[in-house]
Amino acid sequence: MSNGKGKMMSKKFFMPTKVFHGQGSLKELKNLLQKEDNVFIVTDKVLVGIGIAKKVMDILEEKSIRYTVFSEVPVNPHEDSVQKAVELAKKNGCNAVIALGGGSPLDVGKMVAFLLTNSGTLEEYQWDNKPTEAPMAKLINIPTTAGTGSEVTATAVIISRDTKKGIKRDDLFAYAAIIDPLLMVSMPPHITSTTGIDAFTHAYESFVGLGSNPVTDAWAIEAMQLIIEYLPRAYVNGEDLEAREKVSIAAVLAGVAMDQAGLGFIHSCSGPVASYYDVPHGLSNAVFLPYALRFNMLANLDKHVAIAEMFGMDVSGLSKREAAELAVDAVAQFLDDLDIPEGLYSYFQKDEDIAVFADAACNMFLMKNNPRKPKVEELIPIFEAILKE
Ligand SMILES: [Fe+2]
Repeated sequence: MSNGKGKMMSKKFFMPTKVFHGQGSLKELKNLLQKEDNVFIVTDKVLVGIGIAKKVMDILEEKSIRYTVFSEVPVNPHEDSVQKAVELAKKNGCNAVIALGGGSPLDVGKMVAFLLTNSGTLEEYQWDNKPTEAPMAKLINIPTTAGTGSEVTATAVIISRDTKKGIKRDDLFAYAAIIDPLLMVSMPPHITSTTGIDAFTHAYESFVGLGSNPVTDAWAIEAMQLIIEYLPRAYVNGEDLEAREKVSIAAVLAGVAMDQAGLGFIHSCSGPVASYYDVPHGLSNAVFLPYALRFNMLANLDKHVAIAEMFGMDVSGLSKREAAELAVDAVAQFLDDLDIPEGLYSYFQKDEDIAVFADAACNMFLMKNNPRKPKVEELIPIFEAILKE
């Protein structure tokens, strides 16, 4: 493959995690662990409170497998949680990790499994790119939301030095992921919609990004189609198990696509807002989605026409430019159907932040993968529209 300057560039596709999915697939857990395993369960208080963590514990108890539960993971994953968790896991002699929850417990769980077998601090791996010493402890990811795709990625995003910073290396792929829609039935509608849109943004950004290729496009296209068809159903009826199942597997497809092809405009813009204002990741991405399509479409009209068609828009007789415009309309309508607000007005704090966010977004490494590079002055009106009512 050429990069346009005559230089050859090879692309890699690598995803070694065993994926078990479908209703009732949680029962596979008992086949993935042995008696000698001493499991550290990373989760959050909500999942303990509503009894989902207990379903995992029951399976371990049935097989007489020792375990420790760590449920102090906050909504956004912070380095403090990783440190606390690793200390406890080491103290209790744990040699395997089950990460159970949304993106935050999954990302913390990855780093716990990694730091159980690798010496040094999170900071050294996150900021100084310290080389991996040993394969991570056995990690089993069990998502309870359908969105982040973290269960199948080799990336952990942890907040440190006031920044959401990703750690990405092939050594962070889990041994297995179990995607059981029965664990997602109690997810409230607004979490269903925002996490589902997060998955859509993963698929969209990998589809139009510079790292896209036929392998990742296949995963991204299928993910978008499943989300368009099934997310509204899962949103209006949380007990629609067919819809839950399809959205949960779409999140996996989108997660793999993004991990291999990269992200772009949306995650670059939403990152600074989410970390300064503590906005849930899916929501902060969702509000940027229509703006991203409008900004990006001229860089790749064909792919935006394809998105309009995925939404069932009639593009016959239209120019590519007109058809691509319909993708923006379709996405806005889709978000409206899911009751996603057009902005983050209630989170907004002060005018000075807007220039800071726009500057940070332009300089995010993820933006390098976006098909069109924004200037700060092009982003300021977008941040103003999203933050100020
Ligand atoms: Fe995301």
